[in-house]
Amino acid sequence: MRADGRALPAYEAGAHVDLEVPGGGVDGIPPWRQYSLCGDPSRSDAFELGILNEPAGRGGSRAICEHVREGTILRVGAPRNHFPLVADSQRSVLLGGGIGITPLLAMAHALKSAGRAFDLHYCTRSGEATPFLDVVEEFAPNLTLHHSDAGTRLRVEDLPPPDPSVHIYLCGPERFIESLGTASRARGHASENIHREFFNAEVRRDGEGFEVEARASGVAVHVAEDEPITRALARVGVKVEVKCEEGVCGTCITDVIEGVLDHRDHFLTDEEKESNSLLALCCSRARGKLVLDI
Ligand code: FES
Repeated sequence: MRADGRALPAYEAGAHVDLEVPGGGVDGIPPWRQYSLCGDPSRSDAFELGILNEPAGRGGSRAICEHVREGTILRVGAPRNHFPLVADSQRSVLLGGGIGITPLLAMAHALKSAGRAFDLHYCTRSGEATPFLDVVEEFAPNLTLHHSDAGTRLRVEDLPPPDPSVHIYLCGPERFIESLGTASRARGHASENIHREFFNAEVRRDGEGFEVEARASGVAVHVAEDEPITRALARVGVKVEVKCEEGVCGTCITDVIEGVLDHRDHFLTDEEKESNSLLALCCSRARGKLVLDI
């Protein structure tokens, strides 16, 4: 609930919020992380999030699990949705790996309430390592559980045959998303019917240095080898808002005036990348001179 008692903003299944991590940031970068809303979207009294404590992660989930207690007041952004359900699809196939089940729970709630056809496949290591087991069970008989330890991994043959009215939604670890996305396309599902949600991703940051000009700000700076563009711009006073810093949230996407782009993000679509007009400044790079509309 909101601290001021006012109503929470409405959201649609697939949405996420930015949450300020308690306990301070590093290098003055605000410590925000993105988490899917996993409750029933028709509920207006609460935002439900599922946060896995990942000791080997960047520290956000650990800080939240250590510092947040009942009654803790947190700063949370308005819901944003880059992973919406397609309104006129005949069948939705929800594929969740581990904690990536969270946005799919909200989708399953919405589809069930609307009486729309869906299949929920939930992949985990074992029955013991299956968060939200009690919640997903309410989606039987549309639910299939897959446990790798039990040899019941999801196979692409478990999915419905390709059809323009079938849409597939993938959320989980990067390798889970990439391998099932590739297998679905190989089976004949159209790329535009395969929807993916990343929450963290391995981002390659290596690369040679290059020049960047922030034309609207009237400054230019050298981006050092392996340095994010955002950090180089900050040195000359151009502050770019960042949230995930892993190329998944879209906060730092900026208009490009000219340059040879080297996209490293998981946010822009293939068409947007080919347009050569947008760049995720937290992780992507360029070759030669880059001119930004900033
Ligand atoms: S800060 Fe999230 S994509 Fe760049």
